[in-house]
Amino acid sequence: MKIISSIEELRDQLRGQLRTAFVPTMGNLHEGHLSLMRLAHRHGDPVVASIFVNRLQFGPNEDFDKYPRSFEADVEKLEKEGVYVLFAPTERDLYPEPQEYRIRPPDDLGNILEGEFRPGFFSGVTTVVMKLFSCVQPRVAVFGKKDYQQLMIVRNMARQFALPTDIIAAETYRAEDGLALSSRNSYLSVQERLEAPMLFKTLNGVAEAVRNDRRIDIHTLEQQAMSQLSARGWKPDYVSIRKRIDLQPPSSDDLARNEPLVVLAAAKLGITRLIDNLEI
Ligand code: PAJ
Repeated sequence: MKIISSIEELRDQLRGQLRTAFVPTMGNLHEGHLSLMRLAHRHGDPVVASIFVNRLQFGPNEDFDKYPRSFEADVEKLEKEGVYVLFAPTERDLYPEPQEYRIRPPDDLGNILEGEFRPGFFSGVTTVVMKLFSCVQPRVAVFGKKDYQQLMIVRNMARQFALPTDIIAAETYRAEDGLALSSRNSYLSVQERLEAPMLFKTLNGVAEAVRNDRRIDIHTLEQQAMSQLSARGWKPDYVSIRKRIDLQPPSSDDLARNEPLVVLAAAKLGITRLIDNLEI
């Protein structure tokens, strides 16, 4: 595996490749990330991964400085997955001057759910993804459903800008107890790690209730789910049932019509903010 930090060298290395499959990450890799590498192999060749902790997508009070970094271990894992090039730019490589041109996702998608609680987050994500795409020029790129709203925003961006990159969705990779793997799980104490699967359990309860009765009052259901989490010491930001197609709240007509839905949640356990979702 070649480890490349400069954009110019990356371009030289990938020149003429027409079927590159790309997996962008922020490192501290776990099995969830590695499952994306495996899916990438099925959709293109060579597989290129990136590791870059993107300052643009962190808020002023978020964990940019403390974000877990484990470069050596990450390299070893990617070697084993048959990754051809690891693009690992420094901040000076990717942002040699202040990034003044930015992507701004539409408000009705970029400022809801995660975007409401993390202002500017999706602008930071889409800006770096656009720039990474410009460097790697992939034919396909793989994103996890774990970050459901991110996947949808990147997919819509690729479509609206007519990017030559197909966006492929990977299923969420979970621990045996249901907890979605996440780099931020390493912030959890032993006690918190035991409690953490409750988030996915709560989502399952909500999904089950909607499947059993499509006329259920979904607002009450969401409130109950948040109260359950609060009672166990969580600080939920949202538990929200949305239409899969545009992440807007479903009307009672949508519900009656069996519109495909997804329930999304974000909640803090101690200092750790966890997100998860489940298609209904
Ligand atoms: P990061 O959190 O490192 O995630 C990189 C990719 O791995 C994302 O597409 C994410 O959805 C996926 N992923 C994370 N945990 C997963 C799991 N348990 N199962 C399946 N996929 C999982 O997401 C980012 O980085 C950044 O925002 C990035 C897109 C790299 C832009 O900076």
